[in-house]
Amino acid sequence: MAPSIGCLLLFLAFSSVTLASARLPERFIYEDRRAEAEREADLVDSLPGQPEIEFRQYAGYVTVNESHGRALFYWFFEAQSKPEEKPVLLWLNGGPGCSSIGYGAMEELGPLLMHKGKPELRFNKHAWNREANLLFLESPIGVGFSYSNTSADLQNLGDEITARDSYTFLVNWFKRFPHLKTQDFYIAGESYGGHYVPQLAEKILDENKKAPKENYINLKGFMIGNALLDDDTDQTGMIDYAWDHAVISDGVLHNIKKNCNFSMEEQTLECSMAMTDYYDVYNIIDMYSLYTPTCVDQPANSTQQKWRIEGAAPKFASKFDGWHKKPAGYDPCVSYDTEAYLNQPKVQKALHANVTGIPYSWTHCSGAIDNWGDAPASILPTIRKLIQGGIRIWVYSGDTDGRIPVTATRQTLNKLGLNITQDWTPWYNHKQVGGWTINYDGLTFVTVRGAGHQVPTFVPKQALQLIEHFLANRDLPKTDF
Ligand SMILES: *[C@@H]1O[C@H](CO)[C@@H](O)[C@H](O)[C@H]1NC(C)=O
Ligand SMILES: *[C@@H]1O[C@H](CO)[C@@H](O)[C@H](O)[C@H]1NC(C)=O
Ligand SMILES: *[C@@H]1O[C@H](CO)[C@@H](O)[C@H](O)[C@H]1NC(C)=O
Ligand SMILES: *[C@@H]1O[C@H](CO)[C@@H](O)[C@H](O)[C@H]1NC(C)=O
Ligand SMILES: *[C@@H]1O[C@H](CO)[C@@H](O)[C@H](O)[C@H]1NC(C)=O
Ligand SMILES: *[C@@H]1O[C@H](CO)[C@@H](O)[C@H](O)[C@H]1NC(C)=O
Repeated sequence: MAPSIGCLLLFLAFSSVTLASARLPERFIYEDRRAEAEREADLVDSLPGQPEIEFRQYAGYVTVNESHGRALFYWFFEAQSKPEEKPVLLWLNGGPGCSSIGYGAMEELGPLLMHKGKPELRFNKHAWNREANLLFLESPIGVGFSYSNTSADLQNLGDEITARDSYTFLVNWFKRFPHLKTQDFYIAGESYGGHYVPQLAEKILDENKKAPKENYINLKGFMIGNALLDDDTDQTGMIDYAWDHAVISDGVLHNIKKNCNFSMEEQTLECSMAMTDYYDVYNIIDMYSLYTPTCVDQPANSTQQKWRIEGAAPKFASKFDGWHKKPAGYDPCVSYDTEAYLNQPKVQKALHANVTGIPYSWTHCSGAIDNWGDAPASILPTIRKLIQGGIRIWVYSGDTDGRIPVTATRQTLNKLGLNITQDWTPWYNHKQVGGWTINYDGLTFVTVRGAGHQVPTFVPKQALQLIEHFLANRDLPKTDF
């Protein structure tokens, strides 16, 4: 018996190869091999100062526009176990102009976090690649290592081109990782990611309807935290929250209420003056995390921007210097270490980054982008469309963030006017209340107690619990067992 089975297997194997090559046009076979070679070239052996890990990581460039020479940089971690059974999760930080690698991957939720005070990485036991294949993207061009060979592109950025290029990135990235294409796909992000994430989801939804089958992206849902969603309520909520948290005086509050109408496109001079008093406070405490210390010993040689525009409504932001002042994060000084680390040539080489000699250094938030074109005043119409499209949507909010505070997000969600399917209730992380949650018809909202703007940085355990439940489409635990 044995020899004949052997023969049969050999025959079957042989005939399927012949059939496959007969059916597939030459071009596809060539492209498959090229994609595989590109993937192998992106495999990262090990980074300087990296602890040992037992899953693969890849990093490199994906071209999104050949004629202009635009390429976006990514860093990808396979799931820690059974990657072939796990979904793919894309993480996006905001800005506009801030890096998902500097913040998301190295200071928030990636498996390799920046070590404080030395050029080393440390393993994050609450990394989100416990639950998913985890992809970080620096988007748009001009952010971090992502670039364009057409320098004029830097002057023509906005929400729309960001969504378009990110979409093209995904289509091309999945060609490089075809074995992951049929997995469920999710997007998560924070801050100005409140624009990026729903806009990219909408782009995928629209393109899926008309794109050729091989470009289909298996989008199931998205989650956004401390997200910029609506200029009117985000700003009103921000001021209310500051007063309610004893950050500003009655006088400052009343002056702003009297002089500002946040549903107007352009603010008056009186409003700008009233807002100046408000921003002054956030020169002395961290707007993004009310109750943590600020960094008092930043290195003198740092090239890090003293400002950032994380989360700011662009049109509004450009008028107020106050937006641009605060460096981010907790440990409040770790960002300086990240910046020094990513600017080392040996680190860039190991990451396959900066292969074309970008003419400025790596920073958390781009200094190369100083102009932002289109940005809708409200993302709520997009959110409504995505609810209709059957996309799973979770919104979360760290409740000690003063920039896009829980008050703002609650006002925004009320404006959405969805029916409540399960009212406000506490959820638990072990025996402690992790925050509160409410289910609407089509959207779940979760608050995260004691967390600032970058929730995974401040409460890594709760953040991991959050992403796990989101991906499994399961409510957070309502009891304390
Ligand atoms: C490349 O980018 C330019 C400028 O953004 C755009 O006009 C052009 O259509 C893009 N090309 C493709 C193939 O998308
Ligand atoms: C940008 O230009 C460099 C130098 O000519 C080239 O090596 C690189 O491939 C170009 N990038 C893209 C995305 O075309
Ligand atoms: C604020 O501005 C909006 C849009 O211009 C306007 O409809 C509204 O009446 C204004 N509110 C107040 C209180 O002036
Ligand atoms: C600043 O100086 C320190 C000590 O010399 C060095 O380790 C670090 O890489 C420098 N940082 C930058 C951004 O040049
Ligand atoms: C890219 O490399 C050049 C040196 O070739 C360096 O001067 C520049 O700061 C680097 N830029 C980034 C974004 O890493
Ligand atoms: C809310 O529920 C009511 C009663 O079932 C229904 O008539 C209404 O259309 C719902 N509203 C929304 C926004 O879904």
